[in-house]
Amino acid sequence: MKKSQYTTESRKELRKRKNVLVFLTLCLFISTTISLSIVKVNVYDTANQEFKNELELLLLEKIQKNNLEHTNDVKSGINNLNFHYLIISKNENERLLKHLKAQNKTHSENLKDVNSVIFSFISENMINDQLIYRNLVTKEYLWNEEKKIFTKKEEYSFIGEILMADTKEQVKLNNLVKDEASLRAINRVMQEKILEQHPTPNDIIEDVLTRSELVYESEVEIMPASLQIKIDKDLFGLDSVIIEYNEIIPYINTKFIDPAVLEAQQSEILEEKKVIALTFDDGPNTTSTVRLLELLANQNVEATFFLLGQMVSMHPYIAEEIRNRGHEIANHSYSHPDLTKLSREDIREEVIKTDKAIFKATGILPKNFRAPYGAVNQEVIMAIGMPIIHWDVDSMDWKLKDSNSIVNRVINDVQSGSIILLHDIHESSVDAVHKIIRNLSDQGYKFVTVSELFSHAQKPYYQYFRVENHSNNE
Ligand code: NI
Repeated sequence: MKKSQYTTESRKELRKRKNVLVFLTLCLFISTTISLSIVKVNVYDTANQEFKNELELLLLEKIQKNNLEHTNDVKSGINNLNFHYLIISKNENERLLKHLKAQNKTHSENLKDVNSVIFSFISENMINDQLIYRNLVTKEYLWNEEKKIFTKKEEYSFIGEILMADTKEQVKLNNLVKDEASLRAINRVMQEKILEQHPTPNDIIEDVLTRSELVYESEVEIMPASLQIKIDKDLFGLDSVIIEYNEIIPYINTKFIDPAVLEAQQSEILEEKKVIALTFDDGPNTTSTVRLLELLANQNVEATFFLLGQMVSMHPYIAEEIRNRGHEIANHSYSHPDLTKLSREDIREEVIKTDKAIFKATGILPKNFRAPYGAVNQEVIMAIGMPIIHWDVDSMDWKLKDSNSIVNRVINDVQSGSIILLHDIHESSVDAVHKIIRNLSDQGYKFVTVSELFSHAQKPYYQYFRVENHSNNE
């Protein structure tokens, strides 16, 4: 909401210049351009003559000041206490008109004073070279019986729609969202939102994973600081979910966002120079995983666990413990098959069953996927629909089974930005971790999760081997 000022100074000047009208100064934004017509005028029959005259003048003043076109007066409803003017633009779209009328109604019903007048109209503000905001504006004026003039009391402004400056078309999802991969990433955030807002999310997790999908054709309202996505109320108990832009900055064209909104948001950019992500596959189990968690806690290191869905179903409390200790949880399929040998449907099932098991155990949806054996092809990548996280340092721990050999291998291959592949299901791997952490810490490395390594900007359908070395297989 904005309040604008009105100055007596400028009113005096205007009064001098044009004797006919009593002026009410309107402080309109300099950048504002308005193309409006008045479609609704009510005159209160019992009002005194001065009041009526002033009202007419106020209207004329508005028309002249804003190059409005005065069309036919249209009879409209009057509330018990007041009469109001509704000024709306010509050829206005239905949706905006509906909002404007509703806004006008709300404010007119809240008027306390019989001598109040309300104007509602749509104004356009250039936000930057790219964007125009079309605001629903309602202004309230109060009749001053003593001075026989109207004075401005309140101004309400609400952003009705956001247009692209060049085409004058509304910003659409396909303008805002960079590509299919980004849309897919936002889809995940939407799923999280649906689950977050449901009283018993476990009841809807299956539907969320299989029946909610954000596509370019989805019903989405582009708001100044957020997206409002319409969802199936029957399925999810809610009309819509809201995603703030600051949650999805890597996935949107920020030129279509008000810079003022962006300024208020701090994007998480990894500042550490020497960073490494430790990743552990194939867990969780109740022995070596638990020991690893203790060890990581003692050394204050966060890692990423690529969990198998079937292991999570067997040991949900361990999965929960991993989450509680601040590690990242990711998806490593349900039963560890070679996905390149499966049908699209079977791959989807491997992914979804694991997401579901992880959600039920931990309350989160994984953001990253690692294919068993690292085996993917184009079809597999498309079916998975998540960022594919590989590694650049293979500890070969499953084969070496000797902690010193594992340590040496890792230490020799590692560089900043590396993703190290280990398995928390082998005791010898856990033994090695202690030494790896000590050695690399001494070299000045910091340990981060996979999502942190990529500053939370990793995209579905892309493959990642280490930081700054990913390929788009789309
Ligand atoms: Ni594996």
